[in-house]
Amino acid sequence: MIRQNNKVVLVGDGAVGSAFAFSLLQRTTTLDELVIVDRKPELAIGDSLDLEDVTCFDYPTNVHTGTYFDARDATIVVITAGVPRKEGETRLDLINKNEKILRSILEPIMASGFDGIFVISANPVDILTTLTQKITGFPKKRVIGTGTSLDTARLRVLLAQKNHVPVSEVNAYVMGEHGDTSFVNFEEAKLGSKQLTRVMPMDEEDKKNILMAVRKKGGEIIKHKGATYYGVARCLSQICEAILTNRDLSLPVSAPVTGFYGIENNLYIGTPAIINRSGIQHVIETKLSESELAQFQASATKMQKVLDSLES
Ligand code: 2OP
Repeated sequence: MIRQNNKVVLVGDGAVGSAFAFSLLQRTTTLDELVIVDRKPELAIGDSLDLEDVTCFDYPTNVHTGTYFDARDATIVVITAGVPRKEGETRLDLINKNEKILRSILEPIMASGFDGIFVISANPVDILTTLTQKITGFPKKRVIGTGTSLDTARLRVLLAQKNHVPVSEVNAYVMGEHGDTSFVNFEEAKLGSKQLTRVMPMDEEDKKNILMAVRKKGGEIIKHKGATYYGVARCLSQICEAILTNRDLSLPVSAPVTGFYGIENNLYIGTPAIINRSGIQHVIETKLSESELAQFQASATKMQKVLDSLES
């Protein structure tokens, strides 16, 4: 059987984009071509030359710069382009600028004849992922956002530290908006094979403290170094790996939740989902407590309000 050519087009070679490219080249043993597109051509040329040296140690991926037209036969287009958050800003504050940037990218990508999978990480990620699907009219399963994957990584690291266990023992998810209405699914959280709440008894205050620490971590990193990129870059490379290797990984992504968790809105938001070569193979409807379900629905309602304000 002839293996399909694996080609990723990265749009946005800023801190997140370049860290993603570095991670992807080290992780993916099936990537034939990585094309870097950026409005600063010198940066893209420099990074493609720098990153091609990485392929000496890993898989012989052809790394080069290109244009939106390179998307015509790509497996995945990753969009990281957008203005990042500054200290004190929320992700939703970025919507006006980043919506314009997104539209200016999607038009030429669609004109190229692209027929693969979009993976979005620019913020506010749930809104931009929803808009990408609406603007392109792509099948919902072929548009994915990084969603709460980074929040989930932050939660797992925190729980591992608190319980003195390897992070691989922690199976817990942050869900909802990648932002100020995210919540932790404590109901299903596990340490090894044990229910988290049995190993680590928590009252409502303890749960809230964990959630707030996770929610605030991005802002804390920005306060220290002006930006966050390694964490989200690794989330992005994991999503791409799952697609390129058809791996059926359960990942907390921004996924279309219409008809799940009692949500009727036509939008994307953070939930675990199975990711493989088809994109979002299916949304996993996890068990939520009554209060978690209410938090999820409130988060979706907030995202819908933002979408309505854009459309009006
Ligand atoms: C983060 O949470 C800024 O969304 C980015 O690190």
